[in-house]
Amino acid sequence: MDRIRIEGGRPLKGVVEISGAKNAALPILISSLLGTGCNVYRNVPDLRDIHSTLDLLNHLGADCRLNAAAHEVTICADGLIHPEAPYDLVRKMRASILVLGPLVARLKTARVSLPGGCAIGARPINLHLKGLSEMGARIELQHGYVEAKADHLKGADIYFDLVTVTGTENLMMAATLADGTTVLRNAAREPEVSALADTLNAMGARIEGAGTSVITIHGVESLHPVKFRIIPDRIETGTFMVAAALTRGDVEIVGCEPGHLDAIIHKLRLTGARIDTGPDRVRVIGPETIHSVDIKTLPYPGFPTDMQAQFMVLMSVAQGLSLISETIFENRFIHVSELRRMGADITVSGNAALIKGVPKLSGAPVMASDLRASACLVLAGLIAEGVTEVQRVYHLDRGYEAMEKKFQALGAAIERVRDG
Ligand code: EPU
Repeated sequence: MDRIRIEGGRPLKGVVEISGAKNAALPILISSLLGTGCNVYRNVPDLRDIHSTLDLLNHLGADCRLNAAAHEVTICADGLIHPEAPYDLVRKMRASILVLGPLVARLKTARVSLPGGCAIGARPINLHLKGLSEMGARIELQHGYVEAKADHLKGADIYFDLVTVTGTENLMMAATLADGTTVLRNAAREPEVSALADTLNAMGARIEGAGTSVITIHGVESLHPVKFRIIPDRIETGTFMVAAALTRGDVEIVGCEPGHLDAIIHKLRLTGARIDTGPDRVRVIGPETIHSVDIKTLPYPGFPTDMQAQFMVLMSVAQGLSLISETIFENRFIHVSELRRMGADITVSGNAALIKGVPKLSGAPVMASDLRASACLVLAGLIAEGVTEVQRVYHLDRGYEAMEKKFQALGAAIERVRDG
């Protein structure tokens, strides 16, 4: 298995370009299942999760063509034959559950393996299922699979007990082809949800209110093909912003969407970093002294849980104490034990981590447990004294495109070590 080897201590300097957003691309590629004809998606990041999604769509009978160099994907979903997403494909990527809504809407039947928990939490899908059954689907759980059937999905007034990103996306997709109007209340407001609504509307759907907590979807008969550009990845952007601040560097991050980064920009400024924004760029200049700042993860527009681990590295070398509260996932502190092995002073109690800044971290072999934890360990390696080796890099490859190459171009001493 590949490892990432980093010699810490170099300030990052230069320009880095942001890739398309993984969490926008996944539902958008899957939304092709709702219509016939060929859809073209641009700015699709070349990531393991994208390949897993295309494997799944191919399995369902869609014809997917990836031009990785051009970051372009074409999907023609005329010949859908297979309403089943098998365990082997779903276990690789939880977001596969997003095929459930489109398959029931289009084929009137779907059989999708239950995704199960993962390293960061139990991650049930009860709210996806409750919503679909309120739209008239008959749902059964059998042999580890969700089986859903509905001759006609019908519009419904659905309230989410808690904010769920893929839950909102799944029901929004199902509702585009339902009879009548669906209202999703306490819906997720993430930019990725809005991007999906924009794609669907460009296909002929009638969705209002995406980006707010009440989304109204008027069902339509059918959708037509679309050409759509995937929005920039706000979490990749935030990761490079933290890296710039952490290494006391000076980095211009281009091809991003500063409007999606309010919480991250706000918190980073409080640490002392200087941040200038332009229409599609952000420049971050690291502070001499990093000040400690508390954060609490929340649904958008709150501070993203997907940036919590990276921000914790910054707080590990800040002056003073900081408190990080994780309110989205119940087990998203697995990176803490690895950071401690690098010299960080962190105490966890329930969903809170108290971080006492130390002057420096020291390089060590460390093990990644999930995507964002991997990014956090790479960041820690960038400032640690000596050599850090991050193992299980396949987690990183799920969600960061060419991360080590982007850091190399900014002056970091980082390389991928391929086994064998
Ligand atoms: N939840 C339920 N029942 C449900 C659905 C969710 O209890 O039916 C709970 C979850 O267990 C969690 C909370 O609600 O405690 C929020 O989960 P959500 O459904 O919003 O998460 P998700 O849709 O599975 C997406 C991203 C995650 C990101 C979260 C939160 C995609 C493909 N994934 O997951 O991204 O952390 O929203 O913002 O969009 C990542 O990219 O590293 C990643 C994990």
